[in-house]
Order: sequence, then C-alpha cells, then structure tokens
Amino acid sequence: MNLGVMGLGHVGLVTAVCFAEKGFKVYGMDKDKNRIENLKKKVLPFYEPGLKELLLKNFEKIHFISEIKELINNTDVIFLCVGTPPLPDGKADLSQVEDASREIAKNIDKYVLIVEKSTVPVKTAEWIKKTMKLYARKDVDFEVASNPEFLREGSAIKDFLEPDRIVVGVESERAQKIFEEIYRDFNAPIIFTDIETAEIIKHASNAFLATKISFINMIADLCEKTGADVMKVAEAMGLDKRIGREFLNAGIGYGGSCFPKDVKAFYRIGEEHGVDFNLLKCVDKINEQRIEKFVSKIKKVLWIIKDKVFAVWGLAFKPGTDDVREAPSLKIIKRIVEEKGICKVYDPYAMNNFKREFGENENVIYVSDLYEACKSSHAILILTEWDEFKNADFRKIKELMETPIIIDGRNCLDVEKIKELEFIYIPTGRKGCGF
Ligand code: UDX
Repeated sequence: MNLGVMGLGHVGLVTAVCFAEKGFKVYGMDKDKNRIENLKKKVLPFYEPGLKELLLKNFEKIHFISEIKELINNTDVIFLCVGTPPLPDGKADLSQVEDASREIAKNIDKYVLIVEKSTVPVKTAEWIKKTMKLYARKDVDFEVASNPEFLREGSAIKDFLEPDRIVVGVESERAQKIFEEIYRDFNAPIIFTDIETAEIIKHASNAFLATKISFINMIADLCEKTGADVMKVAEAMGLDKRIGREFLNAGIGYGGSCFPKDVKAFYRIGEEHGVDFNLLKCVDKINEQRIEKFVSKIKKVLWIIKDKVFAVWGLAFKPGTDDVREAPSLKIIKRIVEEKGICKVYDPYAMNNFKREFGENENVIYVSDLYEACKSSHAILILTEWDEFKNADFRKIKELMETPIIIDGRNCLDVEKIKELEFIYIPTGRKGCGF
C-alpha cells in the first residue's frame, strides 16, 4: 500500500517521513513548488528535532511531488494535512480542505480513502464527502475517514512513532482494515470510532490541555497575591493520578499553531450547535491576560519602560522549536516597544522566524548570544525555557547588567541559586527574591 500526504507543513512532513520510516512508500505533495524543490534537495522548511536525520534515512521511500495526478495515480490512501488557519472571528478557515477535496474529486478514477489529519471542526468530513460527490465522476468509489494527529512541535517524531493512542474515525469495515494495516507496527491502542467522534476527540483533547494551563495560571495569580508557591501546588495536584502533573506549568500562557486557534475554533463550534462553551471563552481570556500581567511585573520593579533596555531570552512559543506562531514573545515585545523600551533579543533557533513575523523595528536589536543581550540591560525577561538559559553563568551576567533584575515568565531558574547572587528575581506564581 502506498500512502499519500497532501500539504507538507509541520504535520504533513512529519507524517510523510514517519510513515516512510515504518516501511511505506510515501508520496508527499505540496502546491508550493519551491518547497518541493527544496525538499528534493533535502532542505527542510522548518526545524523539528530528528526530522532531518529521519528524512535522510528514508529519502528513497519518499517522493516529493506537486502534481495531484501523480499523487492519485500512485496512492491508495491520502492524508489531508493542509492548513486550517483561523479566520478573524475564530472559526477555522477550511478553504484549503475544500480545495484539496475538489482537486482529488476531479482527478480520481479508482477507490481512494481520504483521511483528515489536520485539525478540523466536527462535521468537516460530511463536507468533504458532499464536495467529492459534487465534483467526482459518478462511477468512482471513495471514502472519508478521520485520523487526527496529536503531535507536539519539538517531539513530533516521537509523538508520531510512539503515540499514547491512535484515533481513527471510519464508516466501513474496508476503511477500518486499511488502518489496521497502516498501524500494524505501532505499539499503541487504536480507538476506532465514527467520524464525528474522532473529529471531536482532537479538539476536545487540545481544549482540555489548554484549560489545564489557564487553570494553573489562574492559581498562579492567587499564589502571587497570597505568598503561596504555584510549583508546589502543581506538584501536589499532579501526584493525584486523576489530575496528572503535565500541562500544569504556570507562565506567560500558551502559544503555538494549535492551542490558541483550537480553543477559539472549538467554542465557535459549540456556539454553532447551540451549546454553551463559556468555559473555553474563559480559558482563552485568561491566556490573553497573561501578557499584560507580565508587562505589569516589569513596571512594578522598573516603574517606567521608556528607554530601559531588556535582555529578552527566548522567542519561540516553547523550547525545542523555531516556531513563533502566536508566541507570547511577539505580544510582550510589541508592548515594550510601544512604550519605547529597547529589546535585545536572543533565541537559539527562532531568531529568523521572529524577525520575519515581527518586522523591522529600531527598538528591537537581534544579538547572537544570551550574554550579549545582557550587556547594559536593566532586566532579563525569560520568555522561553531553553536549557541554555537555565545553565547560564549568572555571576558573569550580573557584571554585564545595568540593574540585576530577572523576570522569569517560565519559572525555569533555581530561586536559591539566583538569591545567592543577589539578583532581583521575579518568577510566576511563587516568591522570588530581592524585591
Ligand atoms: C499541541 C498539542 O500538545 C498537540 O497534541 C497537538 O497536536 C498540537 O498542539 P504544541 O502546540 O506543539 O502541541 O505544543 P505544546 O507542547 O502542547 O505547548 C503549547 C503551549 O502551551 C506552549 O506555548 C507551551 O509553552 C504552553 N504550555 C505547555 C504551558 O504554558 N504550560 C504547560 O504546562 C505546558
């Protein structure tokens, strides 16, 4: 069986490479010819740990193409991995999914199984089917299925190859058998459901994880007001097996290409179906408030932002990736430059993406290492918890700074170590020192 992947973004490329690793011949298609040409030259469009190595290892098994005919002629199953970005009102923009369905429909002449892999609202498969019927020849047979991905950037390869579970929504035994064959070498439970259930599982999982984060951020605010320690609260709560410790790290909120968009899209789906999803509106609101709360911490210690120099450590929305989509860094730095502060920014991987996304600004200076950022600065702002920040030489850093202030938006430093060096340290939801 040959597998097709349509859309070679983060999800699509990881899917293509990992299926090749599992022994399948894969046809990866993208409309962006430039991207295809680069991939043929083994140049990846983004950074994902381990992806390049795995691509090189399986290069012979993957065909990078940009023609739909070639995809359809050579594959039996097509995974739709095209983008579903948010519209201004929060709903998912499904035009790429519609376009892909139409393209497939116009070109098929034999059975094909079309699989939704990108995150889509419940009932999208219904629309794919309707679209296929509208444009496909009446005598060709096709089916639609849902097989949502649960990949995290930074650990996408492991998440794909060693998943906690595999979710598959199908409508026939034939489709179920195909998936049993595709996933026969995976050591994970496969949950077969109807298509709507599979579609909801994906959105519900992301919305639940985002809820955990906003919940602990709300608790962090209370801890700050009362002198309690949110990290201890999370640790103790997390030991309850029903709760679990993961996704209880308080900070400046969730970013990335999934949580912000999926939470908004999910409560829009609730609204469309007359279901009150106010809980998720609060999750979203709490997350948006994290930015202003962080900025107010700067003001609490430095009073005025204008003309202050900030060493900004970390731009990626989380460590292990060069992605800055919806990263808190974009909003925090925007707020600082609006008030005429100066940001000397450093990130081990995400500098170029940040530059592209944020644009030129005379108050944003890109520096090549974390020490350079600290020279003559009034405060360090930690926005991504990269390991190199945790292991930095803080004795040296103190010498470089104008005023030794650290505002830690990710709680990644050891308070005791920092205290010894007499920094003013302001973490999130716990006691700092020197202030
Ligand atoms: C997420 C889901 O985890 C994944 O299953 C889905 O397929 C895509 O969306 P990803 O966006 O790559 O993955 O990142 P994730 O590791 O989930 O982190 C999302 C955001 O939440 C990051 O900004 C991170 O910093 C933040 N976060 C995470 C917290 O603020 N606290 C936590 O405890 C965990």
